[in-house]
Amino acid sequence: MKLVRLSPETELNGFDCGDEDLNNFLVEDAKVFSEKRIATSFILEDEGHIVAYFCLLNDKISRQEVVNSQWKRIKDSFPDGKKFGSYPAIKIGRFAVSMRYKGRNIGTDLLNLLKGMLNDNPSYSAFRYLTVDAYLSAMDFYQKNHFKVLSEKIVNEHTRLMFFDMLELV
Ligand SMILES: CC(C)(COP(=O)(O)OP(=O)(O)OC[C@H]1O[C@@H](n2cnc3c(N)ncnc32)[C@H](O)[C@@H]1OP(=O)(O)O)[C@@H](O)C(=O)NCCC(=O)NCCS
Repeated sequence: MKLVRLSPETELNGFDCGDEDLNNFLVEDAKVFSEKRIATSFILEDEGHIVAYFCLLNDKISRQEVVNSQWKRIKDSFPDGKKFGSYPAIKIGRFAVSMRYKGRNIGTDLLNLLKGMLNDNPSYSAFRYLTVDAYLSAMDFYQKNHFKVLSEKIVNEHTRLMFFDMLELV
């Protein structure tokens, strides 16, 4: 298997993760999002099959969207004089594993690859957290992968904001 960055030439055939929105995003939107610099997509391939994909974009964690207890923990992890109203993050905009490959630890391996990739190749711009608007049905998956709930608020009825602290990797 290999992870490739989506390019205008990437063939996007026959991906089904069981969720229509995520399937359609890959075919209809991923290339435009990349071209217009809204989000960058990465594809995990195996002999011509798309096993999984995810996309990334810049984000921030702001005081207003975090429950008080969680915000206190976040703030306490920064020294005095460095306690700001928001901190930089990268958002996992989409994350999906093909039905054919589900339950084989591929989602976990891919999340670990993503974390390592971002940690080993810091871009010119700093970020501290990974964020994701997790489907309620996928919260257990993210919790098993050390993401925590950021906000109790259910966004769009079926997602909840979760985060991972990159300093947990160091
Ligand atoms: C959620 C998803 C990415 C997980 O990928 P996966 O490769 O099947 O996950 P893994 O095999 O690495 O699972 C790791 C653990 O999370 C659990 N898990 C995975 N998906 C789960 C789900 N939907 N609900 C509850 N637990 C789940 C697994 O049981 C496993 O637990 P274990 O280690 O105790 O056995 C995949 O099921 C998927 O693409 N779902 C549809 C799209 C989606 O929900 N994407 C997330 C958008 S925010």
